[in-house]
Amino acid sequence: MSSTPVDLTLAETTDVVCKVLAPLVAQGAIVRRPHATAWAERHQTDRAAHVVLAGLRERHGGAPLVLRIGTRRLVVVTLADDVRRLLDGSPEPFTPATKEKRGALAHFQPEGVLISPNSRRRRRRELNDHVLQTDHAVHDDGAAFVAAVRRGAVTLADRLVRTGGLDADAFSTTWWRIVLDMVLGTEACTDHDLVNALETLRRDANWSWLHPRRDRLRWKFECRIEYYAATARQGALVNAAHAKDPATAPSQVPHWLFAFDAAGAATFRALAVVAARPRVRERLLSETASEGTSLAVLPYARACVLESLRLWPTTLVVLRDSTRPTTWGARTLPAGTGFAVVSSFFHRDPQRLDHANEFVPEAWLDGRNDADWGLIPFSGGPVSCPGRSLVLLVTSHLLAGLAAHDLRVERGRYLARDPLPATVDHLGLRFRLGER
Ligand code: HEM
Repeated sequence: MSSTPVDLTLAETTDVVCKVLAPLVAQGAIVRRPHATAWAERHQTDRAAHVVLAGLRERHGGAPLVLRIGTRRLVVVTLADDVRRLLDGSPEPFTPATKEKRGALAHFQPEGVLISPNSRRRRRRELNDHVLQTDHAVHDDGAAFVAAVRRGAVTLADRLVRTGGLDADAFSTTWWRIVLDMVLGTEACTDHDLVNALETLRRDANWSWLHPRRDRLRWKFECRIEYYAATARQGALVNAAHAKDPATAPSQVPHWLFAFDAAGAATFRALAVVAARPRVRERLLSETASEGTSLAVLPYARACVLESLRLWPTTLVVLRDSTRPTTWGARTLPAGTGFAVVSSFFHRDPQRLDHANEFVPEAWLDGRNDADWGLIPFSGGPVSCPGRSLVLLVTSHLLAGLAAHDLRVERGRYLARDPLPATVDHLGLRFRLGER
Protein backbone atom coordinates (compact mmCIF):
# COMPACT_ATOMS: atom_id res chain seq x y z
CA MET A 1 0.00 0.00 0.00
CA SER A 2 1.40 3.36 -1.03
CA SER A 3 1.20 6.40 1.20
CA THR A 4 2.43 8.88 -1.42
CA PRO A 5 -0.53 10.95 -2.68
CA VAL A 6 -1.35 10.54 -6.34
CA ASP A 7 -2.78 13.22 -8.66
CA LEU A 8 -5.99 12.03 -10.27
CA THR A 9 -6.51 12.37 -14.00
CA LEU A 10 -9.27 14.62 -15.31
CA ALA A 11 -11.53 11.60 -15.88
CA GLU A 12 -10.89 10.27 -12.36
CA THR A 13 -11.47 13.70 -10.85
CA THR A 14 -14.75 14.02 -12.74
CA ASP A 15 -15.86 10.65 -11.41
CA VAL A 16 -15.09 11.60 -7.81
CA VAL A 17 -16.72 15.00 -8.14
CA CYS A 18 -19.87 13.74 -9.87
CA LYS A 19 -20.43 10.42 -8.11
CA VAL A 20 -18.94 11.00 -4.66
CA LEU A 21 -18.87 14.67 -3.72
CA ALA A 22 -21.77 16.20 -5.67
CA PRO A 23 -24.44 13.89 -4.17
CA LEU A 24 -23.17 14.74 -0.67
CA VAL A 25 -23.26 18.48 -1.33
CA ALA A 26 -26.66 18.24 -3.04
CA GLN A 27 -28.23 16.55 -0.01
CA GLY A 28 -27.11 19.45 2.19
CA ALA A 29 -24.21 19.23 4.62
CA ILE A 30 -25.86 21.40 7.27
CA VAL A 31 -29.54 20.74 6.78
CA ARG A 32 -30.86 18.04 4.48
CA ARG A 33 -32.83 18.98 1.37
CA PRO A 34 -35.80 16.58 1.16
CA HIS A 35 -35.92 16.40 -2.65
CA ALA A 36 -32.21 15.64 -2.82
CA THR A 37 -32.29 12.99 -0.08
CA ALA A 38 -35.21 11.27 -1.83
CA TRP A 39 -33.25 11.38 -5.09
CA ALA A 40 -30.15 10.01 -3.32
CA GLU A 41 -32.15 7.06 -1.98
CA ARG A 42 -33.71 6.34 -5.37
CA HIS A 43 -30.28 6.27 -6.99
CA GLN A 44 -28.49 4.67 -4.00
CA THR A 45 -25.78 7.27 -4.40
CA ASP A 46 -23.63 5.88 -1.58
CA ARG A 47 -23.26 2.62 -3.48
CA ALA A 48 -22.06 4.42 -6.63
CA ALA A 49 -19.66 6.49 -4.50
CA HIS A 50 -18.29 3.32 -2.95
CA VAL A 51 -17.65 1.75 -6.34
CA VAL A 52 -15.68 4.82 -7.49
CA LEU A 53 -13.53 5.08 -4.35
CA ALA A 54 -12.93 1.34 -4.07
CA GLY A 55 -11.81 1.30 -7.72
CA LEU A 56 -9.41 4.19 -7.19
CA ARG A 57 -8.03 2.63 -3.99
CA GLU A 58 -7.37 -0.57 -5.91
CA ARG A 59 -5.81 1.21 -8.91
CA HIS A 60 -3.57 3.48 -6.84
CA GLY A 61 -2.66 1.02 -4.09
CA GLY A 62 -4.38 2.97 -1.30
CA ALA A 63 -2.55 6.23 -2.03
CA PRO A 64 -4.34 9.40 -0.94
CA LEU A 65 -6.20 10.76 -3.99
CA VAL A 66 -5.41 14.35 -4.92
CA LEU A 67 -8.08 16.34 -6.77
CA ARG A 68 -7.88 19.88 -8.07
CA ILE A 69 -11.24 21.62 -7.88
CA GLY A 70 -10.73 25.18 -9.10
CA THR A 71 -8.01 26.63 -6.89
CA ARG A 72 -8.65 24.10 -4.14
CA ARG A 73 -6.49 21.01 -3.64
CA LEU A 74 -8.50 18.27 -1.93
CA VAL A 75 -7.09 14.93 -0.83
CA VAL A 76 -9.53 12.04 -0.42
CA VAL A 77 -8.14 9.25 1.74
CA THR A 78 -9.10 5.58 1.31
CA LEU A 79 -7.15 3.82 4.10
CA ALA A 80 -8.10 3.64 7.78
CA ASP A 81 -4.49 4.46 8.74
CA ASP A 82 -4.77 7.76 6.89
CA VAL A 83 -8.04 8.52 8.70
CA ARG A 84 -6.22 7.90 11.94
CA ARG A 85 -3.41 10.24 10.98
CA LEU A 86 -5.86 13.03 10.14
CA LEU A 87 -8.02 12.65 13.24
CA ASP A 88 -5.20 12.00 15.69
CA GLY A 89 -3.42 15.00 14.21
CA SER A 90 -6.37 17.35 14.82
CA PRO A 91 -6.60 20.23 15.48
CA GLU A 92 -2.91 20.66 14.64
CA PRO A 93 -1.65 20.20 11.93
CA PHE A 94 -5.10 19.14 10.64
CA THR A 95 -7.67 21.70 11.65
CA PRO A 96 -11.40 20.95 11.54
CA ALA A 97 -11.96 24.65 10.80
CA THR A 98 -11.76 24.12 7.06
CA LYS A 99 -12.53 26.79 4.52
CA GLU A 100 -15.90 25.24 3.57
CA LYS A 101 -16.94 24.64 7.19
CA ARG A 102 -16.04 28.17 8.27
CA GLY A 103 -18.12 29.54 5.41
CA ALA A 104 -21.06 27.31 6.32
CA LEU A 105 -21.15 27.42 10.10
CA ALA A 106 -20.49 31.17 10.26
CA HIS A 107 -24.12 31.63 9.17
CA PHE A 108 -25.36 30.58 12.60
CA GLN A 109 -22.43 29.83 14.91
CA PRO A 110 -19.43 31.97 13.94
CA GLU A 111 -17.79 31.29 17.30
CA GLY A 112 -18.58 27.59 17.50
CA VAL A 113 -15.69 25.42 18.68
CA LEU A 114 -15.59 23.40 15.45
CA ILE A 115 -14.58 26.39 13.35
CA SER A 116 -12.55 28.19 16.01
CA PRO A 117 -8.95 29.16 15.35
CA ASN A 118 -6.64 27.05 17.48
CA SER A 119 -5.88 30.04 19.73
CA ARG A 120 -9.56 30.16 20.83
CA ARG A 121 -10.46 26.49 20.57
CA ARG A 122 -9.20 25.29 23.94
CA ARG A 123 -11.50 27.34 26.15
CA ARG A 124 -14.52 26.57 23.96
CA ARG A 125 -13.76 22.85 23.84
CA GLU A 126 -13.34 22.78 27.63
CA LEU A 127 -16.76 24.33 28.06
CA ASN A 128 -18.30 21.78 25.69
CA ASP A 129 -16.63 18.89 27.51
CA HIS A 130 -17.76 20.25 30.87
CA VAL A 131 -21.39 20.82 29.91
CA LEU A 132 -21.93 17.78 27.69
CA GLN A 133 -19.93 15.55 30.07
CA THR A 134 -18.08 13.89 27.26
CA ASP A 135 -16.69 11.08 29.41
CA HIS A 136 -19.86 10.22 31.35
CA ALA A 137 -22.04 7.43 29.97
CA VAL A 138 -24.90 8.95 31.95
CA HIS A 139 -25.02 12.73 32.28
CA ASP A 140 -25.54 14.17 35.78
CA ASP A 141 -28.77 15.75 34.54
CA GLY A 142 -29.66 12.52 32.74
CA ALA A 143 -32.84 11.99 34.79
CA ALA A 144 -34.30 15.27 33.48
CA PHE A 145 -33.24 14.46 29.91
CA VAL A 146 -34.68 10.95 30.00
CA ALA A 147 -37.90 12.38 31.48
CA ALA A 148 -38.12 14.78 28.52
CA VAL A 149 -37.54 11.85 26.15
CA ARG A 150 -40.28 9.85 27.85
CA ARG A 151 -42.75 12.70 27.49
CA GLY A 152 -41.81 12.83 23.81
CA ALA A 153 -42.28 9.07 23.40
CA VAL A 154 -45.76 9.35 24.91
CA THR A 155 -46.67 12.17 22.51
CA LEU A 156 -45.47 10.11 19.55
CA ALA A 157 -47.37 7.04 20.73
CA ASP A 158 -50.56 9.13 21.19
CA ARG A 159 -50.17 10.42 17.70
CA LEU A 160 -49.73 6.93 16.32
CA VAL A 161 -52.92 5.79 17.99
CA ARG A 162 -54.86 8.90 16.97
CA THR A 163 -53.76 9.14 13.34
CA GLY A 164 -52.56 5.60 12.69
CA GLY A 165 -49.22 6.83 11.36
CA LEU A 166 -45.95 8.61 12.00
CA ASP A 167 -43.80 10.38 9.43
CA ALA A 168 -40.59 12.41 9.60
CA ASP A 169 -42.41 15.74 10.02
CA ALA A 170 -44.43 14.56 12.99
CA PHE A 171 -41.38 12.93 14.53
CA SER A 172 -39.35 16.09 14.01
CA THR A 173 -41.94 18.31 15.75
CA THR A 174 -41.78 16.19 18.89
CA TRP A 175 -38.04 15.73 18.65
CA TRP A 176 -37.55 19.51 18.66
CA ARG A 177 -39.63 19.79 21.84
CA ILE A 178 -37.35 17.27 23.51
CA VAL A 179 -34.22 19.03 22.26
CA LEU A 180 -35.35 22.51 23.27
CA ASP A 181 -36.30 21.19 26.69
CA MET A 182 -32.86 19.65 27.21
CA VAL A 183 -30.79 22.45 25.72
CA LEU A 184 -32.70 25.62 26.68
CA GLY A 185 -35.18 24.51 29.35
CA THR A 186 -38.89 23.79 29.54
CA GLU A 187 -39.90 27.37 28.77
CA ALA A 188 -38.29 27.04 25.33
CA CYS A 189 -40.14 23.84 24.35
CA THR A 190 -42.55 25.57 21.97
CA ASP A 191 -40.26 28.31 20.69
CA HIS A 192 -41.08 27.69 17.03
CA ASP A 193 -39.59 31.05 16.00
CA LEU A 194 -36.21 29.96 17.28
CA VAL A 195 -36.40 26.65 15.41
CA ASN A 196 -37.54 28.40 12.22
CA ALA A 197 -34.73 30.96 12.47
CA LEU A 198 -32.18 28.18 12.91
CA GLU A 199 -33.66 26.30 9.95
CA THR A 200 -33.39 29.38 7.70
CA LEU A 201 -29.81 30.04 8.77
CA ARG A 202 -28.89 26.40 8.24
CA ARG A 203 -30.39 26.44 4.76
CA ASP A 204 -28.16 29.42 3.97
CA ALA A 205 -25.25 27.53 5.52
CA ASN A 206 -25.66 24.72 2.99
CA TRP A 207 -24.31 27.25 0.45
CA SER A 208 -21.32 28.16 2.63
CA TRP A 209 -19.58 31.33 1.35
CA LEU A 210 -21.86 31.48 -1.67
CA HIS A 211 -24.87 32.72 0.30
CA PRO A 212 -24.99 36.20 1.87
CA ARG A 213 -25.30 36.34 5.66
CA ARG A 214 -28.54 37.30 7.38
CA ASP A 215 -27.00 39.28 10.21
CA ARG A 216 -30.29 40.58 11.55
CA LEU A 217 -31.88 37.15 11.78
CA ARG A 218 -28.76 35.74 13.40
CA TRP A 219 -28.76 38.58 15.91
CA LYS A 220 -32.39 37.84 16.85
CA PHE A 221 -31.59 34.13 17.12
CA GLU A 222 -28.63 34.87 19.40
CA CYS A 223 -30.71 37.21 21.57
CA ARG A 224 -33.21 34.40 22.20
CA ILE A 225 -30.39 32.08 23.23
CA GLU A 226 -28.92 34.71 25.52
CA TYR A 227 -32.33 35.17 27.11
CA TYR A 228 -32.58 31.44 27.86
CA ALA A 229 -28.97 31.37 29.04
CA ALA A 230 -29.79 34.02 31.61
CA THR A 231 -33.13 32.56 32.71
CA ALA A 232 -33.10 28.77 32.24
CA ARG A 233 -33.51 26.66 35.33
CA GLN A 234 -31.09 24.02 36.47
CA GLY A 235 -31.17 20.89 34.33
CA ALA A 236 -30.91 22.61 30.95
CA LEU A 237 -27.56 22.48 29.17
CA VAL A 238 -27.55 26.23 28.65
CA ASN A 239 -27.85 26.74 32.38
CA ALA A 240 -24.79 24.59 33.11
CA ALA A 241 -22.88 26.42 30.38
CA HIS A 242 -23.87 29.83 31.72
CA ALA A 243 -22.81 28.86 35.25
CA LYS A 244 -19.39 27.69 34.02
CA ASP A 245 -18.46 30.38 31.52
CA PRO A 246 -21.16 33.01 30.86
CA ALA A 247 -19.08 34.82 28.25
CA THR A 248 -18.55 31.74 26.07
CA ALA A 249 -21.79 29.85 26.71
CA PRO A 250 -24.26 31.44 24.22
CA SER A 251 -21.87 31.05 21.29
CA GLN A 252 -21.70 27.26 21.75
CA VAL A 253 -25.43 26.61 22.01
CA PRO A 254 -26.28 26.88 18.27
CA HIS A 255 -24.06 23.88 17.53
CA TRP A 256 -25.86 21.81 20.15
CA LEU A 257 -29.28 22.61 18.68
CA PHE A 258 -28.05 21.92 15.16
CA ALA A 259 -26.28 18.66 16.09
CA PHE A 260 -29.29 17.15 17.85
CA ASP A 261 -30.97 17.05 14.46
CA ALA A 262 -28.55 14.28 13.44
CA ALA A 263 -29.41 12.36 16.59
CA GLY A 264 -33.09 12.46 15.61
CA ALA A 265 -32.28 11.17 12.12
CA ALA A 266 -30.19 8.32 13.54
CA THR A 267 -32.98 7.32 15.94
CA PHE A 268 -35.59 7.41 13.20
CA ARG A 269 -33.52 5.15 10.93
CA ALA A 270 -32.76 2.78 13.81
CA LEU A 271 -36.49 2.65 14.55
CA ALA A 272 -37.13 1.64 10.96
CA VAL A 273 -34.79 -1.34 11.32
CA VAL A 274 -36.37 -2.25 14.66
CA ALA A 275 -39.84 -2.15 13.06
CA ALA A 276 -38.64 -4.35 10.20
CA ARG A 277 -36.80 -6.91 12.37
CA PRO A 278 -38.81 -8.58 15.15
CA ARG A 279 -35.68 -10.13 16.67
CA VAL A 280 -34.00 -6.77 17.15
CA ARG A 281 -37.20 -5.44 18.71
CA GLU A 282 -37.47 -8.43 21.08
CA ARG A 283 -33.93 -7.89 22.27
CA LEU A 284 -34.59 -4.21 22.90
CA LEU A 285 -37.72 -5.05 24.85
CA SER A 286 -35.95 -7.63 26.97
CA GLU A 287 -33.16 -5.16 27.70
CA THR A 288 -35.65 -2.55 28.92
CA ALA A 289 -37.46 -5.20 30.94
CA SER A 290 -34.28 -6.26 32.71
CA GLU A 291 -32.54 -2.88 33.02
CA GLY A 292 -35.65 -0.86 33.85
CA THR A 293 -36.39 2.37 32.05
CA SER A 294 -35.08 4.88 34.57
CA LEU A 295 -31.48 5.91 34.00
CA ALA A 296 -30.25 2.64 32.61
CA VAL A 297 -27.35 2.62 30.16
CA LEU A 298 -29.22 0.31 27.70
CA PRO A 299 -26.11 -0.98 25.87
CA TYR A 300 -28.03 -2.81 23.14
CA ALA A 301 -30.25 0.19 22.37
CA ARG A 302 -27.11 2.38 22.18
CA ALA A 303 -25.51 -0.15 19.87
CA CYS A 304 -28.58 -0.04 17.60
CA VAL A 305 -28.24 3.74 17.29
CA LEU A 306 -24.50 3.42 16.64
CA GLU A 307 -25.23 0.80 14.01
CA SER A 308 -27.72 3.14 12.35
CA LEU A 309 -24.98 5.80 12.31
CA ARG A 310 -22.46 3.37 10.89
CA LEU A 311 -24.75 2.21 8.09
CA TRP A 312 -26.13 5.67 7.32
CA PRO A 313 -23.70 8.24 8.76
CA THR A 314 -25.14 11.67 9.45
CA THR A 315 -21.79 13.42 9.04
CA LEU A 316 -21.44 12.59 5.37
CA VAL A 317 -17.84 13.70 5.08
CA VAL A 318 -15.25 14.65 7.72
CA LEU A 319 -13.07 17.49 6.50
CA ARG A 320 -9.69 18.79 7.60
CA ASP A 321 -7.32 21.51 6.33
CA SER A 322 -3.58 21.30 6.96
CA THR A 323 -2.16 24.25 8.88
CA ARG A 324 1.42 23.59 7.71
CA PRO A 325 3.16 21.53 5.02
CA THR A 326 2.64 17.80 5.70
CA THR A 327 4.69 14.92 4.35
CA TRP A 328 2.94 11.83 3.03
CA GLY A 329 5.33 9.15 1.78
CA ALA A 330 7.60 10.78 -0.78
CA ARG A 331 5.51 13.93 -1.18
CA THR A 332 4.99 17.10 0.83
CA LEU A 333 1.62 18.79 0.49
CA PRO A 334 1.43 22.54 1.15
CA ALA A 335 -0.34 24.17 4.10
CA GLY A 336 -3.97 24.81 3.28
CA THR A 337 -4.51 21.45 1.57
CA GLY A 338 -8.00 20.07 2.21
CA PHE A 339 -8.52 16.45 3.29
CA ALA A 340 -11.76 14.50 3.08
CA VAL A 341 -12.89 11.27 4.74
CA VAL A 342 -16.07 10.02 3.08
CA SER A 343 -17.79 8.34 6.04
CA SER A 344 -20.00 5.85 4.20
CA PHE A 345 -17.03 4.52 2.21
CA PHE A 346 -15.22 3.49 5.40
CA HIS A 347 -18.33 2.48 7.33
CA ARG A 348 -19.37 0.00 4.62
CA ASP A 349 -15.97 -1.27 3.53
CA PRO A 350 -16.08 -5.05 3.00
CA GLN A 351 -12.27 -5.10 2.84
CA ARG A 352 -12.16 -4.31 6.57
CA LEU A 353 -15.57 -5.36 7.84
CA ASP A 354 -17.24 -8.78 7.57
CA HIS A 355 -20.53 -7.12 8.47
CA ALA A 356 -20.10 -4.10 6.16
CA ASN A 357 -23.68 -4.14 4.82
CA GLU A 358 -25.42 -5.93 7.66
CA PHE A 359 -27.12 -4.71 10.82
CA VAL A 360 -24.86 -6.02 13.59
CA PRO A 361 -25.17 -3.96 16.80
CA GLU A 362 -23.16 -6.68 18.56
CA ALA A 363 -20.01 -5.37 16.85
CA TRP A 364 -20.36 -2.23 19.00
CA LEU A 365 -20.74 -4.32 22.14
CA ASP A 366 -17.74 -6.60 21.73
CA GLY A 367 -15.24 -3.84 20.88
CA ARG A 368 -14.75 -4.82 17.21
CA ASN A 369 -15.99 -1.52 15.85
CA ASP A 370 -14.32 0.68 18.44
CA ALA A 371 -10.92 -0.63 17.39
CA ASP A 372 -11.43 0.43 13.77
CA TRP A 373 -10.25 3.93 12.80
CA GLY A 374 -12.45 3.83 9.74
CA LEU A 375 -15.63 3.79 11.85
CA ILE A 376 -16.09 7.39 12.80
CA PRO A 377 -19.77 8.27 13.29
CA PHE A 378 -18.66 10.71 16.01
CA SER A 379 -15.25 11.37 14.46
CA GLY A 380 -12.20 10.39 16.52
CA GLY A 381 -9.14 11.81 18.24
CA PRO A 382 -9.01 15.14 20.11
CA VAL A 383 -11.73 16.77 17.98
CA SER A 384 -14.20 13.92 18.30
CA CYS A 385 -17.79 14.74 19.20
CA PRO A 386 -18.18 15.82 22.83
CA GLY A 387 -21.91 15.13 22.56
CA ARG A 388 -21.49 11.38 21.89
CA SER A 389 -22.45 10.04 25.33
CA LEU A 390 -25.34 12.43 25.73
CA VAL A 391 -26.65 11.56 22.28
CA LEU A 392 -26.47 7.84 23.03
CA LEU A 393 -28.22 8.29 26.37
CA VAL A 394 -31.10 10.21 24.89
CA THR A 395 -31.53 8.30 21.63
CA SER A 396 -31.28 4.87 23.27
CA HIS A 397 -34.10 5.75 25.63
CA LEU A 398 -36.25 7.13 22.85
CA LEU A 399 -35.61 4.08 20.69
CA ALA A 400 -36.40 1.70 23.56
CA GLY A 401 -39.56 3.69 24.38
CA LEU A 402 -40.83 3.59 20.81
CA ALA A 403 -39.90 -0.09 20.39
CA ALA A 404 -42.59 -0.85 22.96
CA HIS A 405 -45.14 -0.23 20.18
CA ASP A 406 -45.79 -2.72 17.44
CA LEU A 407 -44.72 -0.59 14.49
CA ARG A 408 -44.59 -1.33 10.79
CA VAL A 409 -42.39 0.66 8.47
CA GLU A 410 -43.32 1.28 4.84
CA ARG A 411 -41.01 -0.47 2.40
CA GLY A 412 -39.82 -2.47 5.40
CA ARG A 413 -38.82 -5.45 3.29
CA TYR A 414 -35.66 -3.61 2.24
CA LEU A 415 -34.69 -3.23 5.87
CA ALA A 416 -35.78 -6.66 7.06
CA ARG A 417 -32.83 -8.46 5.53
CA ASP A 418 -29.16 -7.99 4.75
CA PRO A 419 -27.54 -6.51 2.78
CA LEU A 420 -29.08 -3.21 3.76
CA PRO A 421 -29.63 -0.37 1.26
CA ALA A 422 -26.58 1.89 0.91
CA THR A 423 -28.72 5.03 1.15
CA VAL A 424 -31.86 5.47 3.26
CA ASP A 425 -33.70 8.79 3.21
CA HIS A 426 -34.88 9.22 6.80
CA LEU A 427 -37.17 12.05 5.70
CA GLY A 428 -39.12 9.54 3.60
CA LEU A 429 -39.70 6.97 6.37
CA ARG A 430 -43.28 6.30 7.44
CA PHE A 431 -44.57 4.10 10.24
CA ARG A 432 -47.96 2.74 11.22
CA LEU A 433 -49.20 0.58 14.06
CA GLY A 434 -49.40 -3.17 13.41
CA GLU A 435 -52.78 -4.94 13.17
CA ARG A 436 -54.10 -5.86 16.58
C1 HEM B 1 -26.05 11.62 16.15
C2 HEM B 1 -25.66 12.80 16.59
C3 HEM B 1 -24.30 13.35 16.38
C4 HEM B 1 -23.30 12.93 15.54
C5 HEM B 1 -23.32 11.74 14.58
C6 HEM B 1 -22.19 13.80 15.75
C7 HEM B 1 -21.00 13.72 15.07
C8 HEM B 1 -19.97 14.61 15.19
C9 HEM B 1 -18.78 14.60 14.39
C10 HEM B 1 -18.49 13.59 13.29
C11 HEM B 1 -18.02 15.64 14.79
C12 HEM B 1 -16.67 16.02 14.22
C13 HEM B 1 -16.85 16.86 13.02
C14 HEM B 1 -15.55 17.12 12.35
O1 HEM B 1 -14.54 16.55 12.72
O2 HEM B 1 -15.55 17.91 11.41
C15 HEM B 1 -18.72 16.32 15.84
C16 HEM B 1 -18.26 17.42 16.49
C17 HEM B 1 -18.95 18.07 17.49
N1 HEM B 1 -20.14 17.68 18.04
FE1 HEM B 1 -21.27 16.14 17.48
N2 HEM B 1 -22.51 14.73 16.69
C18 HEM B 1 -23.78 14.49 17.11
C19 HEM B 1 -24.50 15.19 18.04
C20 HEM B 1 -23.99 16.18 18.83
C21 HEM B 1 -24.71 16.85 19.88
C22 HEM B 1 -26.15 16.54 20.25
C23 HEM B 1 -23.88 17.79 20.39
C24 HEM B 1 -24.13 18.74 21.50
C25 HEM B 1 -25.14 18.70 22.34
C26 HEM B 1 -22.64 17.72 19.65
C27 HEM B 1 -21.57 18.53 19.84
C28 HEM B 1 -20.46 18.56 19.04
C29 HEM B 1 -19.43 19.58 19.11
C30 HEM B 1 -19.41 20.76 20.08
C31 HEM B 1 -18.50 19.27 18.14
C32 HEM B 1 -17.22 20.03 17.82
C33 HEM B 1 -16.06 19.44 18.59
C34 HEM B 1 -14.77 20.19 18.38
O3 HEM B 1 -14.66 20.98 17.44
O4 HEM B 1 -13.87 19.97 19.19
N3 HEM B 1 -22.75 16.74 18.72
N4 HEM B 1 -19.91 15.66 16.07
